Amino acid sequence: MSGVKENACDFLFVGGEVIDGTGAKRVRADLAVTGDRVSAIGDLSNMLAGRKIDATGRIVAPGFIDVHTHDDNLLFCEPDMTPKTSQGVTTVVVGNCGVSLAPLVLPDGPPPPPMDLLGDSSDYRYERFSDYLDSLEETPAATNAAFLVGHSTLRLNSMDDVTRPAKTGEIDAMAKIVDEAMQCGATGFSTGLIYGPNKAAPTDEIIALAQAASDGDGIYVTHMRNEADKIDEALEETFEIGRRANLPVVVSHHKCAGKMNHGRSRETLARFDRAAKSQKVGLDVYPYNAGSTVILTEMIDVADRVIITWSEARPEFAGCDLAEISTELGCSKKEAAAQLIPGGAIYFMMSEEDVQRILAYPNSMVGSDGLPHDSHPHPRLWGTFPRVLGHYARDLGLFPLEDAVRRMTGLSASEFGLKDRGVLRQGAYADITLFNPKTIIDSATFEQPMTQAEGIDLVMVNGGIIREAGQLTGARPGRALRRNN
Ligand code: ZN
Ligand code: CU
Repeated sequence: MSGVKENACDFLFVGGEVIDGTGAKRVRADLAVTGDRVSAIGDLSNMLAGRKIDATGRIVAPGFIDVHTHDDNLLFCEPDMTPKTSQGVTTVVVGNCGVSLAPLVLPDGPPPPPMDLLGDSSDYRYERFSDYLDSLEETPAATNAAFLVGHSTLRLNSMDDVTRPAKTGEIDAMAKIVDEAMQCGATGFSTGLIYGPNKAAPTDEIIALAQAASDGDGIYVTHMRNEADKIDEALEETFEIGRRANLPVVVSHHKCAGKMNHGRSRETLARFDRAAKSQKVGLDVYPYNAGSTVILTEMIDVADRVIITWSEARPEFAGCDLAEISTELGCSKKEAAAQLIPGGAIYFMMSEEDVQRILAYPNSMVGSDGLPHDSHPHPRLWGTFPRVLGHYARDLGLFPLEDAVRRMTGLSASEFGLKDRGVLRQGAYADITLFNPKTIIDSATFEQPMTQAEGIDLVMVNGGIIREAGQLTGARPGRALRRNN
């Protein structure tokens, strides 16, 4: 029936309050969906609808955009994307922290960390970036996805030894791949400069590749070289790359790690303010005072407490505290951690004060950084978005609900160039999350991390309902969001 009659639509959300994603105050309005688009917003009581959805007492919001994910492979191995859709997420940005699934074919054997964040060596099976996107279009997921091409992936693709700076020919080869990725619709280029395959890259190598992304109208997204004592230098390097390659930069999961650095977000955010006067700078953050990644022995002493999320050598330790493991093994925490590699860990290393200050910074986007393949993952994988809405906005009053929604929708779509998404207006894509503002809350904890959030009533992607009343519908209307398309 879509588009047949002017006064008819496929779905009509009736009687709710619309938060449009721009930060504007909520309005009492009905919202009509026709095909894959929002067709009208207002008093639509006379409109005919294929189906009316009662939104009384609920918020009708743009579907949430998770700008920081490692879901490259989850899109294939769990296409319903339950950890994300159960939170109301309708779009994920993949390829963060320098790690993208494509283009790379890995030999048999364990992938070099941190490539194991995305799965096994056999999961790295795409020779070209376009193969990955094509394959996603052949077997779509429930959510949309936008794509970054990662520097660690490129280095493993094009260099025989990743522990040194790239030579001119290698930089040219990598720049050509960035160019190809941009041509077929990538959003930009990412780095993870603390990680083995990426950290030997000097600033000039990064600039050359960021330049290729810039030529394709892309952005630069970075897990910086340092998030602790040398965070000032790391921020300045990031901003320099943005200036010299002339493209917008996004600092991933901004934090001040380690007790010595607690409170420094006051200075780091001032640096963002200063840089923003002359260039485009953005940042994302997750709402927890603990981080998580692969086991890195140099991070053990920075953290107050460490929980193991997975270990190849000792899988039985997943979910255990490293302090207890080290007692059991009769060695130091660092030595114990070394024995568990390859593996992952949660590191309690930020102050709540910094987390809140960064969350409340007007330009901060919400990104989960969830690690979907960990056996005992950080709770951010299942809890990030409802935690910002329920805990930080409603319960603590850190910002109005409208502003919380903006940080996970409108702001994110504009920084990542996702056209006609992240906002609810006539003509925008019908990516919609219906939630109860009184009950929305994360349920995932560090002890029980794989728990669905409460308060999400319905999730729609491109006009198709993917979840309702806590149940999957089985629909997979997600699209590969190719830039400039
Ligand atoms: Zn990272
Ligand atoms: Cu990450």
